[in-house]
Order: sequence, then C-alpha cells, then structure tokens
Amino acid sequence: MSCQPVELVVLVSGTGTLLQAILDNQPTSGDGGYRVTLVVADKECPALDRARRAGVEAAVVEMEADRGAWNARLAETVAAAHPDLVVSAGFMRILGPEFLERFQGRTINTHPSLLPAFPGADAVGDALAYGVKVTGCTVHYVDAGVDTGEIIAQRAIAVEDGDTKESLHERIKQAEREQIVALLGRAQLHQETGNGKVTF
Ligand code: GAR
Repeated sequence: MSCQPVELVVLVSGTGTLLQAILDNQPTSGDGGYRVTLVVADKECPALDRARRAGVEAAVVEMEADRGAWNARLAETVAAAHPDLVVSAGFMRILGPEFLERFQGRTINTHPSLLPAFPGADAVGDALAYGVKVTGCTVHYVDAGVDTGEIIAQRAIAVEDGDTKESLHERIKQAEREQIVALLGRAQLHQETGNGKVTF
C-alpha cells in the first residue's frame, strides 16, 4: 500500500459546490489523502472558476454532435493527467464506451437519490413528484448504464412537508458534500498490483 495521495480528475458541468468541498478538504500535508490535479467540464461553467481560483488546472471539452469523438477527446484530456481516480461531481453527461474502456473501474459518480431509485438528470424532481418520504444520495462506480454501477456509499435524507425541489436538493447536496469528502479522505492507492487500484 502506498502513502502517496490519490490523484483525482474531477468532471463538472455546473455550479461546482461539490467540487468546492473536495478542493477545500484536500489534506494540506502528510501522507496519503487526495489531490485534485485537473478539473474538466463539458462547457464553461462556474465550477471551472472554482478550480482556477484554487490554482487547479481547468479544461473544457465542448460537447459535439459526434458523441464518440467527444468521449474520445474527453478520455485523452483526462488521461494526460494520469489520474488514479476520476470523480464525476455534478457532471451532466453520459460517459460512453470510448471513455469507459479507459476509465471504467476508476470512475465514480455522486448522484442525488438513493439509487436504484430515480436515476437520470432530474433525480430530485422525480423523487418529489413520486412523493417518496425518504430520498438521499449515492456514490457509485460509473458503468455503461445510466446510474447503474456498483454502489459505494449512500446517505438518506427525509423529504419534509413543503419541500421544493430547491430546498430538498440543497439538503441532499449538503449530504453529498460530506459523503464525497469522507469517502475520498479514506481512499487508498494500492500500487503492488501494478495498476494503481484505489479502494475506499
Ligand atoms: C449534485 O446534486 C450532483 O449529484 C448532481 O448535480 C449536483 C451538482 O451540484 N449530479 C447529477 O444529477 C448527475 N446525474 P454542484 O454543481 O453544486 O456541485
């Protein structure tokens, strides 16, 4: 087992409060922990400014009509940073085969529902519309499906009377921030297998 920090590439699309929590909680000294080496977005967005303000390299791989070509360009951009782990944190694109053939098993995603309930782009709205009394958040490995990969961690959040999509999502995001930071904080890099596997 290595005591080097786990090097992360973080994928983002929007506001970037999850990214901010990940950046703010990077261990500053000592062995282990994690370090964000690159942030990649599919468009210019506030999350990229958070990366730049933190002195972390930020890149945009603009979506294009040819999804395969976009996935290949995204994979190239990410691969150039040689990450141990890719973290999708508010990244609103489906990762396709050209990306996953290089990074499946090393890419995790945080999602605002208790999967397998409410996969997809509007998990909070879907949970509210269904009328569930408990929802939450999930960190899972990314596979070829939509939010179907192996579950790593989950937290439950109660839906309160009068909740709007915004109020519920904000409580879920608070839990997501705590969950992803706790998980990354205990990530360990194993190099004896030769492939730099990360475990939690
Ligand atoms: C988070 O709730 C995250 O789980 C969600 O976007 C939000 C990002 O917030 N991602 C998805 O819904 C992916 N399907 P942020 O931009 O403030 O970090």
